[in-house]
Amino acid sequence: MKINFILNNEELKIDIDPQFPTLRFLREEKGLTSVKTGCGEGECGACTVILGSLDNGVLNYKNVASCILPAGELNGKHLVTLEGINGPELSPVQKAFVDEGAIQCGFCTPGFIMSITGFLLSDRDITMENILNSIDGNICRCTGYYSIKRAAEKILKIVGTGIDNKDRISSLAGLSAIPDYFTEIPERLKGLTGSPDMDSESTAKENTLYIGGGTDLLVSGSGKPNPDVRFISDIKNISDIFEDNNFIHVGAGSTVEDIIDSEILNKYFPGISDFMYLISSQIIRNTATLGGNIVNASPIGDLSVLFLVLDPVLEIKSGDGIREVLFKEFFKDYKVMDLEPGELILKIKIPVYPGKRFFNFEKVSRRKYLDIASCNSASCFYLEGDVIKKCDLSAGGVAPVPLYMKESSAWLTGKEVSKEIMNKVIEIVMDEISPISDVRGSSDYKRELLRRLIKAHFIKLNGWLK
Ligand code: FES
Ligand code: FES
Repeated sequence: MKINFILNNEELKIDIDPQFPTLRFLREEKGLTSVKTGCGEGECGACTVILGSLDNGVLNYKNVASCILPAGELNGKHLVTLEGINGPELSPVQKAFVDEGAIQCGFCTPGFIMSITGFLLSDRDITMENILNSIDGNICRCTGYYSIKRAAEKILKIVGTGIDNKDRISSLAGLSAIPDYFTEIPERLKGLTGSPDMDSESTAKENTLYIGGGTDLLVSGSGKPNPDVRFISDIKNISDIFEDNNFIHVGAGSTVEDIIDSEILNKYFPGISDFMYLISSQIIRNTATLGGNIVNASPIGDLSVLFLVLDPVLEIKSGDGIREVLFKEFFKDYKVMDLEPGELILKIKIPVYPGKRFFNFEKVSRRKYLDIASCNSASCFYLEGDVIKKCDLSAGGVAPVPLYMKESSAWLTGKEVSKEIMNKVIEIVMDEISPISDVRGSSDYKRELLRRLIKAHFIKLNGWLK
């Protein structure tokens, strides 16, 4: 695949396997060794780089893991490594790390610097909480996190007070946090050849491989060679989230961070952002997409389990037309979906029902953050007083698919919330699931986990009703 992009301050036109990991390209072909090879699967942050793209004429930067970033994603974008932000003097971010003793062996340091600088370049408010969120995927094995936290406090003091949010790039360049060439990047990106903007109507072939983030696909090195790879981030409007005619439309290309930032989703489903922080780290959340998580079809896929209870319809591009499928009927068996080769999920449409709504997500994993679930579950209740007018329950890790619990959900409809109905529905849930014993626990253990997660839904529902 021919791609045209800007690497630091240099425009490149190269021919590359679109699934080739960006980390390997940077180190092996460009000799940019600030980008470290750590885990190779998005879990340590040593390989963090910054990726900038023009979206509707506005330049957006985000920190991403280069080890699982397919090279094809670089087309039309600005890729920045530590070498690209180095100037004659240390930047305020670099200086804060040195001053606060936040460096020992230094292996993790470029990743931390890139995550924080990428955050400063984003449009998020500069707060301590947001700085710390930006490094939640960066691991340090020798310095200790207190000195890194002190460095973050210093950055907040120096950069946070000196920045003009209307023109972050010029402002950061003025503070020497980035070199001056960044101010010319928007114009230079407009001048790149080749349009990264694909219409969703572009004809796909049977063997077309759509990549929506690739954060799982590249974990084992790279995906299988494919002559027709396309990136859903190149499809116009596929990341839009909007409200229309009593439906919330969430584009399949929306990333986990887009969901966190969505005012609409947070308005209708309060707490959804907090649940999203249980998913991986920011360098992954910045690229992992809703569509990618759905078609991955992992039985414990957090996004699938969570969105199943919102009762959505999937809009799927099929040949020249579009068809719709109820999401709760989409998963057929382990990794088997109602999706033909060449078809593409464009969006999910969530109906907005009237009435009081309670929504909750629970996840158990070996550690609270940055881990795959052993078992997860979501619930959405519509109530009139204490009476359940509609209920949707789902669970992951207890069946070959992300499971919509049809019988339990139907049984709860019309019941009044009480301890008795909670205990009764747990019995029905136990009949609906079929967990297997595997590396994440025995079948009995998973049954016990789900029992407790269903109780957690009811305990929170009860507290919310009071
Ligand atoms: Fe660990 Fe990329 S090498 S996140
Ligand atoms: Fe050694 Fe962070 S300074 S791993």
